[in-house]
Amino acid sequence: MSNSPSAPETTTNADSVTPATAADAPVQTGTAASPYIVTLIPGDGIGPEVIDATVEVLEATGLSFTWDRQFAGAEVIPRFGTPLPDEVVNTIIKNRIALKGPIATPIGTGFSSVNVTLRKRLGLYANVRPARTLPGIVTPFKDVDIVVVRENSEDLYSGIEHVVVPGVVESLKIITETGSTRIARFAFDYARKNGRKKVVAVHKANIMKLSDGLFLDCCKRVAREYTDIEYSEMIVDNCCMQLVTKPHQFDVMVMENLYGDIVSDLVSGLVGGLGVTGSANIGPDTIMYEAVHGSAPDIAGKGLANPTAVLFSAVMMLRNFGEAEAANRVENAVFAVFKEAKHLTGDLGGKATTREYVNAVLRHMGA
Ligand code: NAI
Repeated sequence: MSNSPSAPETTTNADSVTPATAADAPVQTGTAASPYIVTLIPGDGIGPEVIDATVEVLEATGLSFTWDRQFAGAEVIPRFGTPLPDEVVNTIIKNRIALKGPIATPIGTGFSSVNVTLRKRLGLYANVRPARTLPGIVTPFKDVDIVVVRENSEDLYSGIEHVVVPGVVESLKIITETGSTRIARFAFDYARKNGRKKVVAVHKANIMKLSDGLFLDCCKRVAREYTDIEYSEMIVDNCCMQLVTKPHQFDVMVMENLYGDIVSDLVSGLVGGLGVTGSANIGPDTIMYEAVHGSAPDIAGKGLANPTAVLFSAVMMLRNFGEAEAANRVENAVFAVFKEAKHLTGDLGGKATTREYVNAVLRHMGA
């Protein structure tokens, strides 16, 4: 096993929804004799169901993996006194690559988000969330093809909140020049590497003149270095309306953490929903792949979850490994199942269980 600082060139399906991530993304190189070592975090709710399904499909590609299983979330607190044991973080740092299921965060009270803490501790500053119209999935618009690049480490997700006086609280929105310039450069690099034409910076600098103003200034400055990519700006509320009326104007979108979280869920709704949208959290040394969706407590444990979002995240991982053939094989099998429309899960209007869907994908892979 050897680690390489730069991703190999990959061949992407013409219809791929799982582009390679970034020019400088950390990767591993593996062979059958020297497997890919991936930290695997099943997570909460539907997490273990969609992760197990994904592992089964990945192993059917014939590639060799060593899964370093780690556990985080509420269930490990009694044993470790924390929802995020150091061991989990250390193994991701060592392996450099993680595939993660969703982890629930208590609402209003309780421990801080394990997801946010993981992204911060691992320096995963960029969250790439591609969404593309899928063959066979009926949605209001055809040919949507949007990549949301979300800043992953700053903004209101600083988690710094305090009571000023009873009945008044303050939450700090942290925006830095370093963080904003870094994510803007990532978005433009991503656009260039993936043959994209446009980047739009999404903001609310008309109201948050200092914080969003700084973010926008950084985007403008970086944009001047990329004269081959068209640059524009859009206020976030108008952006949401434009997305649901004229989505074809969008290509790569770059934004702060909170807007990115919300807008990427909206964009996933344009192509079939949370069950089909994968993502990669990228830092200088590590990538953590995960679905955009959460732990879906309403369907957890029922065998009804759609594993496609984690599966597409894993296909992004394969592309970054340089395993284009395996990636295309999995992706094409999913497309075939969608087109056939006989084994779709409930979120896509079907009646299939996770098991039936996975069986159909495996059949189309010829596995
Ligand atoms: P959610 O994404 O878990 O669910 C929203 C809706 O989408 C639900 O109706 C659910 O059944 C459906 N859904 C989501 N994924 C699906 C799938 N794969 N197949 C079929 N249907 C699916 O969002 P919610 O309910 O707001 O959050 C639940 C928990 O997940 C919360 O504790 C939240 O903090 C956590 N969360 C974790 C994330 C992560 O680990 N990265 C991301 C988002 C939320």
